[in-house]
Amino acid sequence: MNVADSQVVVAILQAEGWEHTPSIEEADLILVNTCSIREHAEERIFNRLKELRKYKRARKGVLIGLIGCMAERLKETLLEREGAVDIIAGPDAYRDLPALVAAGSGVNVILSVEETYAHISPVRYDSNGVSAFVSIMRGCNNMCAYCVVPYTRGRERSRPVQTILLEVGEALAAGYKEVTLLGQNVNSYRFEDVDFAELLAMVAKMNPRLRVRFATSHPRDLSDRVLKTIAAHENICRSIHLPAQSGSTRILELMNRKYTREWYLERIAAIRRILPDASITTDLIAGFCTEATEDHEDTLSLMREVGYDFAYMFKYSERPGTAAARGMADDVSEEVKTARLTQIIDLQNILSLESNRRDVGREFEVLVEGRSKRSASRLFGRTSQNKVVVFDKGPRTRAGDYVKVKVTDCSSATLKGVLID
Ligand code: 5AD
Ligand code: SF4
Repeated sequence: MNVADSQVVVAILQAEGWEHTPSIEEADLILVNTCSIREHAEERIFNRLKELRKYKRARKGVLIGLIGCMAERLKETLLEREGAVDIIAGPDAYRDLPALVAAGSGVNVILSVEETYAHISPVRYDSNGVSAFVSIMRGCNNMCAYCVVPYTRGRERSRPVQTILLEVGEALAAGYKEVTLLGQNVNSYRFEDVDFAELLAMVAKMNPRLRVRFATSHPRDLSDRVLKTIAAHENICRSIHLPAQSGSTRILELMNRKYTREWYLERIAAIRRILPDASITTDLIAGFCTEATEDHEDTLSLMREVGYDFAYMFKYSERPGTAAARGMADDVSEEVKTARLTQIIDLQNILSLESNRRDVGREFEVLVEGRSKRSASRLFGRTSQNKVVVFDKGPRTRAGDYVKVKVTDCSSATLKGVLID
């Protein structure tokens, strides 16, 4: 989401005569787009800001701006804490950046109920030319007890459907082969009478060779209608990211996730029924307030029961201002959080390896993204299930091509294969 937002920011500044440079030494303005989701993310930004001071010292007039969720959360206090920061702009204040920059300093952290940067075409300065992010909504109304997003990104709002289709059309014209529709909870997209299922179908119909992905879904809102829409369009990818957060109904209730373990498993059953070849991935949090050994065991058993293909796994990190921070004690010790996270990661490594082993011997259509980092003679791309496949390159294969690959080997992280005609 921050990658997509940075591309919007570059577009806004470019319209005012600024130019993006890949070289930080050359930059007159350095913007750091930030994340507040866990304390660790913020710590990394503070370290980065220390590093950036040298560019300000090296050349007169260099401005440093901090944008995004951390700007929204910490506001003016950042100016006092970080002497080198000149500009602070929250996620809804990017249109004001040219004015803030022209003034040489300033703060705008006003949240909006309607800003979606609807008519701004992102400048995809850092993309691979194959896969593009398209933001379809902003903010979140879910109020999960641990999560800072509703406070930093504001209320949920959907981008007008015509502007989404326009942007996808531009991406297609520029040669992109895949779009990922982005939002905190895409399943609650609604603009006038168009809901997420309809939007998905509209985007998928624009070009049958365009792959369509989306993130993220909330289990409460992932309807059979959406699953059936995916099933009806071959170019909507067979990959569902469905953050569970925990396998314990008691913890889910404390998290204010608004579903039980049984509800979640019923949604998984619906995915398996309607999209039997879909991969299923998730997000998990270890050590949320009051989490006991048996709750943790519930998370491990949920993982086994679903057999996730991949997971993002985190230790609970208390975020100031959230419901959990205000009303619950962060009472699982760091040692226990670490031990539980390790168990979760170890189990997921096994599940990912099992998932990949099931693909050995099978053939997949792969969208080539580029050269493998390890070897110049190999390419990598993704299957519809969003798994990375590495294979020896053919004489004419290039990024952006669709190729058929037979999987011959795997690790827990990647598939290895050979090109077939
Ligand atoms: N601590 C740890 N993980 C968190 N996430 C969100 N808030 C927190 C937090 N306070 C995780 C959730 C979410 C993902 C984007 O980040 O798993 O799905
Ligand atoms: Fe945070 Fe929950 Fe919204 Fe996701 S759905 S952004 S976890 S509040």
